[in-house]
Amino acid sequence: MLASLTLAGCGDADGPADASGADASGESASREPAEIYAQYCVNCHGTGMAGAPMVGPEHRLIWSEEIEEEGFPTLVKIAIEGQNGMPPRGTCFDCSDEEIEATVLYMLKESGAK
Ligand code: HEC
Repeated sequence: MLASLTLAGCGDADGPADASGADASGESASREPAEIYAQYCVNCHGTGMAGAPMVGPEHRLIWSEEIEEEGFPTLVKIAIEGQNGMPPRGTCFDCSDEEIEATVLYMLKESGAK
């Protein structure tokens, strides 16, 4: 029979790679939404590049409509997965879903929504 099967069995460095989470209350570990926005999102959303909806009070209507039509969870999903000119995670590839969500919220607040 096959004697070499054991070779494949070295995959026990397993472990849930994401033992990190769990500190739902701690804001210390994650970055500030404003930081993330300034580092990644502003490149497009501060200038309207590639058709990105711009952030700021004068663009409140655009975002209000987005929220009404799509809903906040959908906007977050788009921000995470990308859509058209919007790259997944807005190019912040090491951002967690929570950080992206917080950053979308930040953008909405900056735009005077809610
Ligand atoms: C490379 C340019 C670029 C970067 C960087 C970028 N965006 Fe976008 N974003 C876009 C474009 C373009 C759209 C419009 C997409 C469309 O037309 O569907 C968009 C749309 C969005 C939307 C609204 C989706 C909708 O339905 O209109 C959200 C929310 C968003 N971006 C969040 C972010 C966040 C958060 C970041 C930073 C972490 C970010 N974006 C970084 C280009 C960018």
